[in-house]
Amino acid sequence: MNEQNQDIQKEHQQFISDLEGWTRTHGCGELGIGDNGREVCLMGWVQYRRDHGGLIFVDLRDKDGLTQVVFSPEAAPLAHEKAHILRSEYVLAIKGKVRPRPEGMVNPDMATGEVEVVVSDWKLLNTSKTPPFAVEDRCDAAENLRLAWRFLDLRRPRMQRSLRLRHKVIKAVRSYLDDNGFIEVETPVLTKSTPEGARDFLVPSRLNPGQFYALPQSPQLFKQLLMVGGIERYFQIVRCFRDEDLRADRQPEFTQIDMEMSFVDEDGVMKIAEGLMRQVFHDAMGIDLALPFPRMTWTEAMAKYGVDKPDTRFGLELHDVTAIVKNSEFKLFSSSKLVKALRFPGGEKFTRKEIDELTEFVKIYGARGLAWIKIRPDEWQSPIAKFLSAEERAGLTKELQLETGDIVFFQAGEPAVVNTALGNLRVQLAREHGLIPENTYNFLWVTDFPLFEYSEEQKRYVACHHPFTSPAGNDLQKMAADPANVKARAYDMVLNGNEVGGGSIRIHSASMQNDMFEALGFTREQAETQFGFLLKALEHGAPPHGGIAFGLDRLVMILANAQSIRDVIAFPKTQKAVCLLTDAPGLVDSTQLGELGLRLRETEKKQIGDADR
Ligand code: AMO
Repeated sequence: MNEQNQDIQKEHQQFISDLEGWTRTHGCGELGIGDNGREVCLMGWVQYRRDHGGLIFVDLRDKDGLTQVVFSPEAAPLAHEKAHILRSEYVLAIKGKVRPRPEGMVNPDMATGEVEVVVSDWKLLNTSKTPPFAVEDRCDAAENLRLAWRFLDLRRPRMQRSLRLRHKVIKAVRSYLDDNGFIEVETPVLTKSTPEGARDFLVPSRLNPGQFYALPQSPQLFKQLLMVGGIERYFQIVRCFRDEDLRADRQPEFTQIDMEMSFVDEDGVMKIAEGLMRQVFHDAMGIDLALPFPRMTWTEAMAKYGVDKPDTRFGLELHDVTAIVKNSEFKLFSSSKLVKALRFPGGEKFTRKEIDELTEFVKIYGARGLAWIKIRPDEWQSPIAKFLSAEERAGLTKELQLETGDIVFFQAGEPAVVNTALGNLRVQLAREHGLIPENTYNFLWVTDFPLFEYSEEQKRYVACHHPFTSPAGNDLQKMAADPANVKARAYDMVLNGNEVGGGSIRIHSASMQNDMFEALGFTREQAETQFGFLLKALEHGAPPHGGIAFGLDRLVMILANAQSIRDVIAFPKTQKAVCLLTDAPGLVDSTQLGELGLRLRETEKKQIGDADR
């Protein structure tokens, strides 16, 4: 069938013509009853063709929508006869007259559903092979197939809407920042490593054999240099590159709305950032946000929500019950550094299977299990109930405000695991049980982050944000003595539980920047080799400055109500960082490698050979 179709399509190619001076008068989503009697010219793709005895109906699609066009043997016999060749995704130009649809044929689900265009003449602008999936929103093709055929996928109204929304957001950003005295400055893509916590993508230099550029993880250092350069207010819609494990909200190359300001403190940056969001929501969504956004310290966020990007659209706060169970007969509780609990009203009805599934869920976050208690009218039902004294029960009841019908979940152990596991369980329960209100946008600033975090992998402290973030004033002395408790002048903007932006006030004194490098374990020489240019700039009249960067893709993903960041990027990469459309990354021949002074190791050659087989 398919082959037959392809043959027919080849045969149809003889009918293809150019525009020959035809110009389009309207988009396919535009015509309404007010256009009755109007002569129009539309151009687009065949969505459906239906032969109804004499009449042939085609839904013609362009970026604006669909219009029903009718080929009638009475109205235009020649045009009608030719129309038998039409197939899905053929490209047409039609001329015709708008008329109301007959009684009972009005389609209320279609913007142009009250009218149709009776074709007087038309041109075939191109044929199409049979597409591998239907180009419509209802299409249930697997994502990988859609990505491999992205040029077809992009024709779907959903994708068109996402990209248009993205454009509107960018337009609002440019307009707002321009109005507020920011100028857009481009910064290099072939550059030196900018440590943002991920691996770099490297580019070998042919002219400097053995040397590499790094693609920027962000323009962080350049924007700071622009401040030293007296630009004062900079922004850039900029591509960033990070070689990290991908998730639904991450891409190896993504876009930031990056900005930096001189002579400001936290409030100055936050005010501009809030205004920016207000303009974006107003222009792209027609929503007026209330300002200022609430603020929450990192410590409070971790205590109540277990994560540094809390979703505040619903309650279900976590409770620290370590003190209540510190003498418990239940050894896991009494021996753990931290014990936290999450009360879920109505959860007493959960089946064993549901609890098992939640237990599997928390294991993703490193938990070994999930303790629970069901609060029944006559008893506390739980494998651990027998270990809990009357005093402990009273303590838990008071702290968690327990009521009959509740279930309580517990995590005990290392704070990082306890918080992540319960924090994510909280969101999972809210999702599963429909507790998250739709069309609600809860913005939140998270402030007072720690400056450092301990990296188990590297066995040393690393910068929580990046090494150019200023320590909070009073904590300067602690930097060397008690790194874990130094706070940073950093802030994240959180929207519905997603980190949409992050920034900080920067170190603008060379000596403090040197102290920072030292605290992070750099020798003087290492700091000089990697960041000498920054240190030199800081020594030459660097103004106080700070900024923020928003994840544009993430922001648009939330606004578009998309499940994945890939749905708001025209040509995204898969979880394995592959572009299924172009097949990047790909092999290069040995001459190219030779010019770069590179040679593959035998192990890689073997892997490539195995993959080819
Ligand atoms: P940060 O690393 O927090 O800060 O990045 C800023 C924002 O970029 C988004 N983001 C991503 N989006 C998609 N895919 C990724 N892999 C990805 N990684 C980050 C997030 C994040 O909030 N130079 C600093 C900013 C500054 O200090 O001004 C920076 O890059 O939404």
